[in-house]
Order: sequence, then structure tokens, then C-alpha cells
Amino acid sequence: MSSRLNRLPEVILLHILSLMPTKSAVQTSILSKSWRYRWTLVTNLDFYYNGRHPSDERSFIKFVARVLNSCKTSQVKLFRLHLLCPQVRSLCVSKLIDKAVRLNVHELDIVSPKLDFPLSMFTCKTLTKLRIRHKFNHYNNWVCPSYVYLPCLKTIDIARYSSSIINVFKLIHGCPVLESLSLEIAKRNNEGDYLFNIPTLKRLKLIFRSRTNNVINKVVLRVPNLEYLFVGGVLHSLFVMEDLSSMVGASIACYKGMVNDMWFELLNEIRGVQNLSIQDVQFTSALPTFPNMEHLELKGFSQHGLITQFLDSCPELKSLCIDEVVGRFFKKPKQSSWIEPKLVPACMLTNLTTIKCSISRGWKCDIKFPEYVLGNAEVLKTVTIIGENLCLEEENRLCAKLLELPRVSRHCKIHFRSWKK
Ligand SMILES: *[C@@H]1O[C@H](CO)[C@@H](O)[C@H](O)[C@H]1NC(C)=O
Ligand SMILES: *[C@@H]1O[C@H](CO)[C@@H](O)[C@H](O)[C@H]1NC(C)=O
Repeated sequence: MSSRLNRLPEVILLHILSLMPTKSAVQTSILSKSWRYRWTLVTNLDFYYNGRHPSDERSFIKFVARVLNSCKTSQVKLFRLHLLCPQVRSLCVSKLIDKAVRLNVHELDIVSPKLDFPLSMFTCKTLTKLRIRHKFNHYNNWVCPSYVYLPCLKTIDIARYSSSIINVFKLIHGCPVLESLSLEIAKRNNEGDYLFNIPTLKRLKLIFRSRTNNVINKVVLRVPNLEYLFVGGVLHSLFVMEDLSSMVGASIACYKGMVNDMWFELLNEIRGVQNLSIQDVQFTSALPTFPNMEHLELKGFSQHGLITQFLDSCPELKSLCIDEVVGRFFKKPKQSSWIEPKLVPACMLTNLTTIKCSISRGWKCDIKFPEYVLGNAEVLKTVTIIGENLCLEEENRLCAKLLELPRVSRHCKIHFRSWKK
């Protein structure tokens, strides 16, 4: 095998080796003499340790250290270290990261139960992407030094963070070109308002996981170049957005059953967006008008009344996607919950061209909604119906029924797709 591989150009061989878990790449050194040191030129270093045999943990750490010491590349594109064993010492992790930094690492992707970072990481000139995933909340122990300067860091993704938010803000403020920030906060500490003051930021994803902590603080977004915002989880905070002139899209996703008025406040703040995706959020107040909304996605909704409200509130709407996941978890209504609007919504007369809608098993009455849209949307071009978990007979019946429905738009096509779990 190795002789045939040897005929490939060196760049390709190194590329293949870089795609492998590093352990396998190192194992190629036994193939032949010419392979012996080839792996030392790989640019991706990818280590995974599941911790099933805790006694091996030391030899694993030693192995990673040896690989890093033998590496001959001038720059490591990716250093991925996923450690799932709780015994690992944070000092060991820190030392390994320090070695990667010395190899001019571009991307760090670290999963570890205990985490500490070397000082060198906070001034790494080559780092472009940092991904940190904490494994167990109570071992969150890294501390950000007061001097941070990461001149190339564009992407930060921190998951399950439960320590002081001050660390995160210190890190962010040392990143002059940060474009994308994803932060999942597992525990709220009573630390007052959160101020995200990041002039270069384009994408922001915030997830609040804590269900119990009732600390209500403000989240202030001073992000004049923000294009996309995602807010998910449990909302305990009022959002204050200072400048949303660049924002195009947003997504909000609520944990099931954790609905409160703050979601409505948030929706109201972002009503200027063109793209919006909403998951599992219910609103008790009347919706505001969304003057620019073109693409709307509603996921996990049980109330069709809300669909009517959205159609009425989005005069420029071009496409609507309804994903009825709720039908899989909740009791299905016997009658259609679709509420016919009093007047045909404005978007249906001029702008609405695309509808995508899933119909799941047992929701026999859901046909009322496509029926209304087909009968009233004058510029409709495409209707896609996704049959979820239907048997062949149900599918055929649904298809036949859909094709019979009267269509007011002459250029409308109906597509049917099935989706099975
Ligand atoms: C808005 O949504 C449309 C349709 O889903 C998509 O093609 C487009 O890329 C989105 N634009 C942004 C800026 O998110
Ligand atoms: C909606 O339709 C009107 C009338 O045809 C048009 O002037 C307007 O530009 C459309 N809006 C969008 C977002 O395409």
C-alpha cells in the first residue's frame, strides 16, 4: 500500500495525514523509511481521549507532548485537544497549549474538564480561532490575565461557561478584529449588566442555560457592525441595543416552557431585521410590525393563530417556513388551529412567493393553511410541503388533495417531500 501512496505528491500526502487523527498519522511512521518523519510535517494536530481507562491518561498526555516536541512544521493550523477524563490536571493542559502556541497555532479547539491557559496564549500573534468547551461546570477555573493582545483572533466560541463573565470581557477587549462571538453561559453570577462593546463584531450568539437563577440584568449591545444575532435558552435579561443599523438577520430560540415577557421585548427590539427564525417562543402581546421582514421561519409552534399574526405584521414577507416539530411532542389537536385572517394579509397580495410547511402524521386539519395560502397569495411561486412520518398511503392522499386545491397564482408549483424519523 505504501508504495502506491508514495507516488502521490508530497503536498497531498501531508494533506491526507493532516486529516487523520494525529495518533494514526504518527503510526504511519512504521510504514517505511520514507514515512518515518513525514508525519512531523502535518499542519493539523487532532487529539481525542475518552478517559475510559483513567490509568492511561498520563501516557496520553506524554504522547501529545512528544508529538508537539517533534513537530517540524513552521505553523500548526489546528490544535484540537478533546479530553473527557476528569482526572486530567489543568497544568498539563496549559503546558500542551503553550507548546502549540510556540508552533504558531492558528486554531485552538480545547475540550477539557479542567482548564487553565498559559500566559503565552493571550498574546499569541497567529491565533485566528479559539474554541473552548468546558466539560463539567464546577471545574471552570481559568483566569484571564489583565494584558491580552490577540491581533488576529476573529472567532471565539465558548461553551458551558460558568465562571466570572469578567474573564470573558477581558479576553474580548484584547481582540481588535473580533468578528464572531458565541458564548454559552451555564451559570449566572450576580455581576450587574453585561456590556458587549465590540466595534468589529458581525455575528453574536448568546445562550443562557441557567433555569433557576433569577438575576435580572441588562445585556447592552454596543455592536454597530452586527449583522446577525442569536439569542437562546432562558431569558432573564433585558436587551438594550444601541445601534442595529447593520443587522440583517436574527434567531431566537427559547427552552421549552421557559417563556416570559422578555422574549417579546427582545422581538420588539429587533423588529427591523430582514431574516428571522423563531423557535418555541410564544407571545401574549400583539406583535409589532416588521417593516423589512423578507424571510421568516417559525419552528415548533403549536398555535396557528400566531402564524396569522405574523402574516399580518410582515407586509414585505417573501418567504415563510413553518416547521411543525411540536406535533411530535404534544397532543395533536383534532381540529385545525389555523385562524383565517379577516383580510388577506398585505404580503400575500404583493410579495409572498415561497412557502415551506411541514405536515406531520395526525395533523389532518393542517391542510387548511396551505389551502388558504394557495387560494389567496397572488404572486406565489413555490409551495413545498414536507410530510413528516407519513405512511405511503397517507402521503398519496395528501398529495392528491394538495394538487386539487384551487390556486390563485397561475405560476405556482407544488413540491412534496417526505421526511421520516
Ligand atoms: C436570509 O434568508 C434567506 C432565505 O432563507 C437566505 O438565503 C439568506 O442568505 C439570508 N440572509 C441572511 C443575511 O441571513
Ligand atoms: C413587495 O412588493 C412591492 C410591490 O410589488 C415592491 O414594491 C416591494 O419592493 C416588494 N418588497 C420586497 C422586499 O421585495
